Amino acid sequence: MKKKKNQAFSWRFTFFMFLILLITGTVVAAGDSLDTDKHVLLKLKSYLEEQNRVNRGRYSEWDTRNSTPCQWYGVSCSPDGQRVIGINLSDNNISGDMFNQFSALTELRELDLSGNTIGGAIPEDLNRCSSLVYLNLSHNILEGELKLTGLNSLEKLDLSMNRRIEGDIEVSFPAICKRLVIANLSTNNFSGTIDKCFDECWNLQYLDLSSNNFVGQIWSGFARLVEYSVSENSVSGALSGSMFTNNCSLQVLDLSENNLEGQLPGEISNCKNLAVLNLWGNHFTGKIPSEIGMISSLEGLFLGKNSFSNVIPESLLNLTNLAFLDLSKNNFGGKIQEIFGRFTQVKFLLLHGNAYTGGIISSGILKLPKVSRLDLSFNNFSGPLPIEISEMKSLNFLTLAYNQFTGGIPPEYGNLPQLQALDLSFNQLTGSIPLALGKLSTLLWLMLANNSLTGDIPPEIGNCSSLLWLNLANNQLSGEIPPELAKIGRNATQTFESNRLRNDRIIPGSEAYGISCLKDMEFSKYAPQVQQ
Ligand SMILES: *[C@@H]1O[C@H](CO)[C@@H](O)[C@H](O)[C@H]1NC(C)=O
Ligand SMILES: *[C@@H]1O[C@H](CO)[C@@H](O)[C@H](O)[C@H]1NC(C)=O
Ligand SMILES: *[C@@H]1O[C@H](CO)[C@@H](O)[C@H](O)[C@H]1NC(C)=O
Ligand SMILES: *[C@@H]1O[C@H](CO)[C@@H](O)[C@H](O)[C@H]1NC(C)=O
Ligand SMILES: *[C@@H]1O[C@H](CO)[C@@H](O)[C@H](O)[C@H]1NC(C)=O
Ligand SMILES: *[C@@H]1O[C@H](CO)[C@@H](O)[C@H](O)[C@H]1NC(C)=O
Ligand SMILES: *[C@@H]1O[C@H](CO)[C@@H](O)[C@H](O)[C@H]1NC(C)=O
Ligand SMILES: *[C@@H]1O[C@H](CO)[C@@H](O)[C@H](O)[C@H]1NC(C)=O
Ligand SMILES: *[C@@H]1O[C@H](CO)[C@@H](O)[C@H](O)[C@H]1NC(C)=O
Ligand SMILES: *[C@@H]1O[C@H](CO)[C@@H](O)[C@H](O)[C@H]1NC(C)=O
Ligand SMILES: *[C@@H]1O[C@H](CO)[C@@H](O)[C@H](O)[C@H]1NC(C)=O
Repeated sequence: MKKKKNQAFSWRFTFFMFLILLITGTVVAAGDSLDTDKHVLLKLKSYLEEQNRVNRGRYSEWDTRNSTPCQWYGVSCSPDGQRVIGINLSDNNISGDMFNQFSALTELRELDLSGNTIGGAIPEDLNRCSSLVYLNLSHNILEGELKLTGLNSLEKLDLSMNRRIEGDIEVSFPAICKRLVIANLSTNNFSGTIDKCFDECWNLQYLDLSSNNFVGQIWSGFARLVEYSVSENSVSGALSGSMFTNNCSLQVLDLSENNLEGQLPGEISNCKNLAVLNLWGNHFTGKIPSEIGMISSLEGLFLGKNSFSNVIPESLLNLTNLAFLDLSKNNFGGKIQEIFGRFTQVKFLLLHGNAYTGGIISSGILKLPKVSRLDLSFNNFSGPLPIEISEMKSLNFLTLAYNQFTGGIPPEYGNLPQLQALDLSFNQLTGSIPLALGKLSTLLWLMLANNSLTGDIPPEIGNCSSLLWLNLANNQLSGEIPPELAKIGRNATQTFESNRLRNDRIIPGSEAYGISCLKDMEFSKYAPQVQQ
């Protein structure tokens, strides 16, 4: 009896030992020390130096005489200093194909190669880096299809801005979903459907699928994310109320520039933390739901380029944080809705392309105290340009182009202390250019083309020290170009600097005629451009 038991015990013991040997044996073979890690890094270094003969990044500083690689630029090690766990060579001038032996670093948790010009396909080898928690390959020129099935520990994945990674994503999602919190696939060439890919990604919070070629239905599980963007794809179908569950935790929802249709469900108000709702550029119809007025955190509402009915719900006036309101291109027609004159909280008001007729004054929008950007272009407003605009002291961008305004440009417009863009082109304006416009020292952009303006160009325009774009083409102006005009744009630094400091948090998601490029302008040196 006793002997038998001992025998069994010893058999089990031997088996156990054998198992241990087996496990450690395989690990040793794959490399499990700082020495093997160092060896792999040196291989990486010579590979990169081979691919990049000039203009090398800081991996060139990796010094084999330094006994531990843990001090090398961009390399990080485990707390005990025994293994390499991170490589960060972002912005290191790396070009050529991607290194295909990262999996030999068996404890690698973070790999950041963003901001280089790495091309070719993502190598098979990367799939074996099963310890990876963070993978950032964004801002490269990688291509081919995505087959990341082995990265089961991944929490953050960024493949954005490669422009050429293609094919459908169903191979990788949900395969690598288990721990995923951030997935950014933006600005690539992905195609196929998305509606079945993320159901099992229970930890996902940020999903950016924007600027690809996705088709089919929208993924209906998005309400449990913090941010969901699928903008600039070809997703179609309608939104159903049940997508907006009552525990919706969205802060940013961007569905702009797709083919979505039908009504916007009132259940959207279940998303109580929503700050940005962008539905610009779809085929939505019906009423704007009054329930939106209950989302008190809302800062940006972009409903432009759709076919919403022209009744704007009173409840929206309750949104005290609403700074950006875009209802452009909804073809509202008729007189501008009077309610816009009561959005006293709004800073950006975009109503271009709505076929409005008549005047602006009666709506009261020219009395809104905070408006900094007003775009009423591409309508059919008529009558004289309102002098009242000169009282809008926070105005930065004013676009009244492509209307039927008549009469002269009010000299009072020279009193707008913060004006940076004034676009009055494509109207029927007459008379001469007021010298008072020379007082606009922050003006970057002055467009008066295609009117019937007459007389000389006033030399005072030369006082516009920030002015970089001036277009006076297709008028009936006479005389020479005054030599003072050579002074325009001599010092735009101050204007750009003040924009940088103000740094409005949400950049409006919608295009606006002409001046959209202003939002991207840094205070770099632009040569003034004059067209006459
Ligand atoms: C990349 O190349 C540029 C231009 O030669 C150089 O100024 C820059 O320092 C390099 N970056 C790194 C990280 O070495
Ligand atoms: C990599 O380094 C860059 C700059 O050196 C830094 O901005 C970035 O956050 C680092 N990446 C990670 C994952 O720590
Ligand atoms: C990836 O790298 C880019 C550029 O270095 C950075 O802007 C981005 O935040 C990184 N992505 C993540 C998820 O950390
Ligand atoms: C994107 O993929 C399509 C085919 O699906 C191809 O015709 C196109 O050239 C690709 N674009 C880029 C930038 O690779
Ligand atoms: C995804 O990446 C793009 C480009 O790198 C960036 O602009 C965008 O903010 C990122 N999305 C998220 C949700 O972080
Ligand atoms: C949110 O609500 C939906 C149904 O309304 C439910 O299925 C889901 O489990 C809830 N999620 C969380 C995180 O509570
Ligand atoms: C605005 O909010 C107040 C206070 O919460 C509420 O009583 C009122 O009904 C709301 N107005 C509209 C038009 O929803
Ligand atoms: C303005 O009215 C004219 C004449 O009725 C019409 O042809 C034109 O399409 C309208 N333009 C806009 C932008 O609504
Ligand atoms: C702009 O003015 C030019 C010259 O007068 C004219 O030929 C052209 O048709 C105008 N363009 C528009 C869109 O009115
Ligand atoms: C504006 O320009 C005019 C004519 O060029 C000049 O006489 C005047 O001094 C300038 N005013 C200022 C404030 O610079
Ligand atoms: C441009 O303007 C700023 C602020 O007014 C001033 O500090 C700077 O000296 C000016 N630069 C030039 C070249 O005139």
